[in-house]
Amino acid sequence: MKITDAQMLISAVDEKQYPKDGLPEIVLSGRSNVGKSSLINKLLQRKSLARTSSSPGKTQTLNFYQVNHKLNLVDVPGYGYAKVSKKQREQFGQIIEHYLTNRQELMGAVILVDSRHDPSDDDESMYHYVDYYDLPILVVATKIDKVTHNHRAGNLQRIRKVLQMPSDAPLIPFSAMTGEGRAEIWQWISETSQT
Ligand code: GTP
Ligand code: MG
Repeated sequence: MKITDAQMLISAVDEKQYPKDGLPEIVLSGRSNVGKSSLINKLLQRKSLARTSSSPGKTQTLNFYQVNHKLNLVDVPGYGYAKVSKKQREQFGQIIEHYLTNRQELMGAVILVDSRHDPSDDDESMYHYVDYYDLPILVVATKIDKVTHNHRAGNLQRIRKVLQMPSDAPLIPFSAMTGEGRAEIWQWISETSQT
């Protein structure tokens, strides 16, 4: 995908703030620190449009990014971050749930999991939750540059197994460092959002 225009539209906490441009949307979700913001920056070829951080829990709102005036990518709050209060976590959960169940423009979900570890219970819940709503799902295994060649196939197989993914469900290894997987992710996004 050639990026001619990329902009951060809004950080929204409330439905009233969601963009009204009617463009198809793809949501990106995953545990805090899994690399969502880094993925968005790599997809959009911008160094720091989405704020990245080594201290997890940075992104706490729904962040809408508009691409080429054709598509919106939505970065949701990272889940499973222990240091935020239970109340905060419940609030994030409600924001995500409300968005997933009500947003007409939503065409598909990219679920990010860390390629170094087995998916967490939260990852599993998110996968099945989104699947239940019949939304097309792409699983992206992030930080693949940190996995040695010897462990690569095994780790990817574990992710499929733990998430109980159908054998034909898409899983793409990705690195924000090397750009591996970027083209394949764009391909999926383009097909899924029909842009
Ligand atoms: P929250 O907004 O807190 O939920 O985090 P996030 O999912 O947006 O993660 P973010 O993109 O901020 O990345 C977290 C950390 O992981 C940062 O230190 C990134 O530099 C690092 N990181 C992200 N992607 C990669 C990758 O592909 N490879 C490597 N080696 N590091 C990565
Ligand atoms: Mg982030």
